[in-house]
Amino acid sequence: MNKLPELRLAHRMARLGTETAFEVLVKARALEAQGRDIVHLEIGEPDFDTPRNIIDAGVDALQKGFTHYGPSAGLPPLREAIAQYVSETRRVDVTPDEVVVVPGGKPIIFFSILAPCDRGDEVIYPNPGFPIYESMINYVGAKAVPIRLREEKDFRFDVDEFAALITDRTKLIILNSPQNPTGGVLEKKDIEGIARAIGDRNIIVLSDEIYSRLIFEGEHHSIISSHGFQDRTILLDGFSKTYAMTGWRMGYGVMRADLAAHISRLMINSNSCTASFTQMAGIEALRGPQDSVDAMCAKFKERRDIMVAGLNTIKGFSCRLPKGAFYVFPNVKQTGWPSKKLADAILNEAGVAALSGTAFGEYGEGYLRFSIANSIENIEKALDRVGTWAAKNL
Ligand SMILES: Cc1ncc(COP(=O)(O)O)c(C=O)c1O
Repeated sequence: MNKLPELRLAHRMARLGTETAFEVLVKARALEAQGRDIVHLEIGEPDFDTPRNIIDAGVDALQKGFTHYGPSAGLPPLREAIAQYVSETRRVDVTPDEVVVVPGGKPIIFFSILAPCDRGDEVIYPNPGFPIYESMINYVGAKAVPIRLREEKDFRFDVDEFAALITDRTKLIILNSPQNPTGGVLEKKDIEGIARAIGDRNIIVLSDEIYSRLIFEGEHHSIISSHGFQDRTILLDGFSKTYAMTGWRMGYGVMRADLAAHISRLMINSNSCTASFTQMAGIEALRGPQDSVDAMCAKFKERRDIMVAGLNTIKGFSCRLPKGAFYVFPNVKQTGWPSKKLADAILNEAGVAALSGTAFGEYGEGYLRFSIANSIENIEKALDRVGTWAAKNL
């Protein structure tokens, strides 16, 4: 039998992280294959179907021949629709040449870190936070500087603590509101404080606003609307969460036009373009009726209330009410169990798949993340199972 030759990877591959949700999903599926019944609260995608009008627009585009390559920065009518949407929702003046359409929100994270950051540059990012930020910062050889999100501040950060992290080497600052994994939402005064702390320094802000339409209390605020910040902000938004389009793969970045040209060059080098029929469906998503977005948001709010109230009755768990996105992030420190061990036990022994807070960085220790992108029936089943398990084992 031939032995495989040694696999010789580049050193930088050792610095690339991952997104644990996909790994836990595989583990949960393996348990299901053994006949176990698992409630899936690990994965961050809406359980709703893409609205019918958007599917019809996609099918129609396929029939009409939108099956070819398109411009790397996106089809002009979609860039136009996005420019208009962002201008209206963020009260700024965006032109289509400031928009780059990409396959999902993730490539904007990848490109926004890849394009400006050299080895040794510092990047401030939320922790606990979406794991791809830290993974990519490390991958490009930049220095990852975590800003701790604080439970006592409803998982926003302390602006003075943030200001103290900014140095002459800070190249990029990543903000995410509404936030994954905590559901925290930055308030107007937070954005003003952050803008003041950055001042007129030449630092790029990547503002990940992929959950901007999933807000239960208050309003969405973006730093791109702050005076003097439009030219220093890369706004990330997309279709995956708002329109339940995770599998269509489409998101976008809004940024100054010269930077957009460089990000388009990264698109040419990696994906060529986003699928053309997907983009035609995106125009319908933005310009068509929005009632399904509101209905989905109302459903998430109802589930959030049930989940949080239920978790707060479980021994060792205490949970704040998240203001946005579709996750709850209970504090489990009173259980005395490390988060990862607790998440594993809940999966293996109670049949509920959740994520350890540490999947989102070091400051996630002492927390679990449950996605509420599942039916009320399943959420109640999960609460019952975790509660019974906790009463027996804690
Ligand atoms: C904070 C955040 N940003 C970006 C993304 C990526 O979204 P997409 O599936 O559109 O690539 C996610 C997905 O979970 C997310 O939670």
